[in-house]
Amino acid sequence: MLTIALSKGRILKQTLPLLDKAGLKIADTELNSRKLILNSNFDDVKVIVIRATDVPVFVQHGAADMGIVGKDVLLEHGAEGLFELLDLGIAKCQLMLAASNKNKLKQHNLKVATKYINTAKRYFEAQSKSCEIIKLYGAMELAPVVGLAHCIVDLVETGNTLKANGLTPFAHIADISSRLVVNIAAFKTKNVHIKTWIQAIEKNL
Ligand code: ATP
Ligand code: PRP
Repeated sequence: MLTIALSKGRILKQTLPLLDKAGLKIADTELNSRKLILNSNFDDVKVIVIRATDVPVFVQHGAADMGIVGKDVLLEHGAEGLFELLDLGIAKCQLMLAASNKNKLKQHNLKVATKYINTAKRYFEAQSKSCEIIKLYGAMELAPVVGLAHCIVDLVETGNTLKANGLTPFAHIADISSRLVVNIAAFKTKNVHIKTWIQAIEKNL
C-alpha cells in the first residue's frame, strides 16, 4: 500500500491533472466527500488531502509515503526525514522581502511580518542583520500598511498584491514550486512501487 499526501487548495488543483496524466485518478465523488482517506483507481494507492503545512509532517513520520508540497513549506519545515525527489514545476512563485520603501529596511530594530518565521530568521542571520519576526497566518501585506512591521517576507506571484498595498519587492529569497517528497524509510522498503509512480509522473511533466 502507498499513501500519498496532497496539499489542499491552490496546489491540489494543479496536482490532480499531473496525477491523472500519470494514470492515477481520484474520482470527484471521493474528492467531494468528507472522507479523509481517499481511494484511487489503484487498490494499492490511497490519497490524503491535507493542509500544505501538514504534508511534510505526515511524510516525515511515515504516516504518508509520498507527498506533494510547496518548496516554501519545505524550507520552513526543514525537510527532515524526507527526500525531495521531483520538482513538479507547478504553483510557481517567489519568496520575497518587500517594504513600502528601501529606507524601511535600514531600521535597527527591523520588524518583519511573515508566516515563514524559520526561513526569514535564516535569511536575516545570513545577512548578519538582527530583526524581530512577527508571525502572521495571512494578509502579510497589511502589516507594513498599518505599522505592525517595517517589511514582510511573503510569496509573490504576479506582484499584484504587493502593488495594491503600496509595497515593492527588494530582495529575492527563494524560487518556489511544488515538490514531490518521499519518506526516507519508505523509499527503501517500498522502493519499486514508489519509483514506478515517480517515473510515471516525471514522464508526463
Ligand atoms: P493554508 O490554508 O494551509 O494556510 P494557504 O491558504 O497558504 O494554506 P494555498 O494558497 O491554497 O494555501 O496554497 C499555498 C501554496 O501554493 C504555497 O505554499 C505555495 O507553495 C503555492 N503558491 C503558488 N503561488 C502562490 C501564490 N500566488 N500565493 C500563495 N501561494 C502560492
Ligand atoms: C498569496 C500570497 C500573496 C499573494 C501573492 O496570498 O500570500 O498575498 O498570494 O500573489 P500575487 O503576487 O499574484 O498577488 P493568498 O491569496 O494565498 O492569501 P493568504 O496568504 O492571505 O492566505
